[in-house]
Amino acid sequence: MTANPAAALALPVLDEALADRLRTRLELVERALTGHVQSRAAFVTEAASHLLDAGGKRFRPLLVLLAAETGDGADSDEVITAACVVELTHLASLYHDDVMDEADLRRGAESANSRWDNLVAILTGDFLFSRSSELTADLGPDAVRIQAETFTRLVEGQIMETVPPGPGEDPLAHYLDVVAGKTGSLIATSARYGARFGGASREVEEALTSYGEIVGCAFQLSDDILDIASETAESGKTPGTDLREGVPTLPVLMARAAARPEDARLLELLDADLTDDQRHAEALDLLRKHPAMDSAREYVIARANEAKERLSVVPAGPVRTALEAFADVVATRTA
Ligand code: FPP
Ligand code: MG
Repeated sequence: MTANPAAALALPVLDEALADRLRTRLELVERALTGHVQSRAAFVTEAASHLLDAGGKRFRPLLVLLAAETGDGADSDEVITAACVVELTHLASLYHDDVMDEADLRRGAESANSRWDNLVAILTGDFLFSRSSELTADLGPDAVRIQAETFTRLVEGQIMETVPPGPGEDPLAHYLDVVAGKTGSLIATSARYGARFGGASREVEEALTSYGEIVGCAFQLSDDILDIASETAESGKTPGTDLREGVPTLPVLMARAAARPEDARLLELLDADLTDDQRHAEALDLLRKHPAMDSAREYVIARANEAKERLSVVPAGPVRTALEAFADVVATRTA
């Protein structure tokens, strides 16, 4: 986790000129973001700066900048504004998400609900979302509509996660629908805004939107795997949060679907209350060793490959290579 994401791009860009350009543009985004979280109330500025200052990978703004490179107007100010819109929307959703998850850690720092309380966290999320909306207005009515539709999907996805699948509904299909809403939507919009405000053709914009949606799903699914597999030092979050909250994510759904006779204890634990520390630790340990973890990783890699196939309309060259690398990094990330 770095407090200055522009210093180290969250993807390997093989072309030095492109990497330099992205770093310079990300630095501009970073400076603009610092300005956008300022409020006339000092406490609001402090609360709204809290998670921004804690770091983060800036995957969404980076995708906006990279997608903009497919057009002939990648240097436009609107691209920077669009990058700020998606990061502020994402940041807003994290303040709310940590309240829902009762999370105590985010980006290696205390979550806002833990540092202050739920009320501060919710209202700060609202403030950041309002700021994001103000900025979207600068991008014109189409951008406002795209942002509104994206936000509808994001909130629907988050709510659907709290509702079990309907009778006869496949739990994995239900979950993938949740993931597409809560994460695929905003990452699709990041790629779409980049292409649109970077001056790409309509064909490229559509292909990148579809690429972003799939990459976004892969991003969330690898987050689910990391929630089980990684330690706090890597992720900056508390491991096993989904399990504790009873959210059946990809590895759990796959372990259930491919349960072996020796999985009786794991299945028993998955049906139990995992807010109990001892049961939680045992379930986490059994899941970490389960072959479903590898099946989940393979599934995510297959989704990343599917995303890369959408890039055929982007001319071969450093930008397409970097977009391909972006999909790979998302699928195999360790933090
Ligand atoms: C992370 O999920 C959460 C999201 C991707 C979206 C959350 C959206 C909301 C809470 C709606 C926001 C509403 C407003 C008004 C701002 P996760 O818990 O699986 O990921 P994590 O491991 O990063 O916590
Ligand atoms: Mg969460």
